[in-house]
Amino acid sequence: MSKKPVRVAVTGAAGQIGYALLFRIASGEMLGKDQPVILQLLEIPDEKAQNALKGVIMELEDCAFPLLAGIEAHSDPMTAFKDTDYALLVGARPRGPGMERADLLAANAQIFTVQGKALNAVASRNVKVLVVGNPANTNAYIAMKSAPDLPAKNFTAMLRLDHNRAASQIAAKTGKPVGSIEKLAVWGNHSPTMYADYRFATIDGQAVKPLINDEEWNRNTFLPTVGKRGAAIIAARGLSSAASAANAAIDHMRDWALGTNGKWVTMGIPSDGSYGIPKDVMFGFPVTTENGEYKIVQGLEIDAFSQECINKTLAELTDEQNGVKHLL
Ligand code: NAD
Ligand code: LMR
Repeated sequence: MSKKPVRVAVTGAAGQIGYALLFRIASGEMLGKDQPVILQLLEIPDEKAQNALKGVIMELEDCAFPLLAGIEAHSDPMTAFKDTDYALLVGARPRGPGMERADLLAANAQIFTVQGKALNAVASRNVKVLVVGNPANTNAYIAMKSAPDLPAKNFTAMLRLDHNRAASQIAAKTGKPVGSIEKLAVWGNHSPTMYADYRFATIDGQAVKPLINDEEWNRNTFLPTVGKRGAAIIAARGLSSAASAANAAIDHMRDWALGTNGKWVTMGIPSDGSYGIPKDVMFGFPVTTENGEYKIVQGLEIDAFSQECINKTLAELTDEQNGVKHLL
């Protein structure tokens, strides 16, 4: 007997990331090959966007996905988020060349107060929310603060793309398969201040740090490459990352919903005070997940350089979050 369908809301559904994301959700890559889904798709009311959404829906229909139990098109978050079990908040303006993600705050912050309030009013009380739209951490913070009746822990920001980028750089450096790398962490903000940390990482159980044994590479190549990868993609493609972002969103939601079996992944989550990060700051932490709940990996030693990096990304996030106080 098949499972009862769950409701998955996706905003910005006719955008680049939406196009790389929806077909994978509908085929079961996010919530499992036995989990039917109803897609509740949100776009702005603008005629062009709604028409583009219609086209995407026609294509979804033409895939005849057995797990796709329904598709809805919306232009109002109050209907798009009705009873939703999962919400992927992608819809927002992307940056262009020469911009930092924080430059998008003025354009995008308002979207997340409106959508946080709508989630608060109509979503399932257990809704799992992932914010992808940039600046992702602060937008997730805004949505969380705009939804006081939902548990704060249900709001998360996407740091998984940074985690996957870090894994890929380490695989290239060591010549080992990317799938064999475990225990990576990316601390802080989805911005160039993020701290990608492989001090605890292993490959097939063997420690990565002595294998690389190159602190100069860590500081002057690895960290800037991972931190500025989004800008490098914009410079090369003329558009911001889309397929890899959609892939990271799938990874984030799948791991949150279905568990990591003890493996570490990175999620942007409201801090519980761990590692001296003030409560509620939306911060990238290494976590494990089980039964739909995430848990911060505890007890990691933070050396002087790591503390410096964590302080820097925390200061940036605190500034961003102070800058949106008037919206909350
Ligand atoms: P895009 O411009 O191709 O698509 C965005 C879509 O969102 C558009 O169709 C637009 O009409 C829609 N939209 C805008 N405001 C909306 C609203 N209020 N409600 C519903 N829909 C709305 O952009 P994209 O390339 O898909 O990127 C989307 C966002 O994701 C950007 O902010 C981008 O910077 C961000 N992003 C984040 C990460 C990450 O790792 N966190 C990675 C890549 C991109
Ligand atoms: C990314 O990291 O690729 C995205 O956040 C897009 C961007 O603006 O860098």
